[in-house]
Order: sequence, then C-alpha cells, then structure tokens
Amino acid sequence: MTNEGLLSLAKEAIENAYCPYSRFGVGAALLCGDGEVFTGCNIENASFSLTLCAERTAFAKALSSGKRDFKAIAIVGGKDKRAEKFCYPCGACRQVMSEFCSEDFELIFEDENGRTDTATLGQLLPKSFDFGE
Ligand code: THU
Repeated sequence: MTNEGLLSLAKEAIENAYCPYSRFGVGAALLCGDGEVFTGCNIENASFSLTLCAERTAFAKALSSGKRDFKAIAIVGGKDKRAEKFCYPCGACRQVMSEFCSEDFELIFEDENGRTDTATLGQLLPKSFDFGE
C-alpha cells in the first residue's frame, strides 16, 4: 500500500465523520503489518467527552480484529470535512499509538492542496510514558 493509497482511504473515511458539534471531520486509514487497512472517522457525542477520535476508532477496529502489528496511519481532517491544514493527532491518540507502535511508526498527512507531510511517532511523542516493565 502506497502513502497515496492510504491517504485516499483516509479521505473516503472522513465522509463518514459524525461531527455535528465541532463540524471538524477527521478520517484515518491504518496500515497493519500484514497489509490490511482499517479506516476510522471521528464520532462525536452530545456529552462531548465521549467523542471518539478517528485514529482511535481505526485502532479499535484493528485491535478488536486481532491485529497487533502496525506500520503507518494516514490522517486527514478539518472544518466541514475540508483538510485546509495538516491534521496532526491529539495527545491522547499519540499516547494510544505508543501503546502498540514503535518509534518508527509512520504518520502521513495531506491538505486539500495535495501537500503532504510525514512524521514518525518518535518525533511526535518523544520520551513517551511506558509502564517500565
Ligand atoms: N479529532 C480527531 O478525530 N482526531 C484527533 O487527533 C484530534 C481531534 C476530532 C475529535 C472531535 O470530533 C473533532 O476532531 C474536534 O476536536
């Protein structure tokens, strides 16, 4: 799966975003070590703190299907589901990724002008917390 292929699945996933409160839609496409891809979108709730981020939705789908090995995730998002800027993951999602992914796990971003950016999890969450065992 190419970065472009993963981004295009993330862009499809953003269409399913349920975001009536913030109007900020996010789509994610998570590539597993075996080549399978799981998509996710954000799912908001009237009780705001119950909102699920797109990235964690994708991870929950993959993890609950038995996947444990992850290579990369493409993320797109923005107001009214338009990716005006790169949509970098929130701190909570970075921490969840760090539970299952190594520092070289790749994150791929694209804006609506077709500009792309990449980063590793190690760059986005250096010196991360772990349980020390
Ligand atoms: N959101 C994500 O889906 N992923 C992130 O990494 C950050 C934020 C969603 C949650 C909420 O529905 C909307 O974006 C605005 O915060």
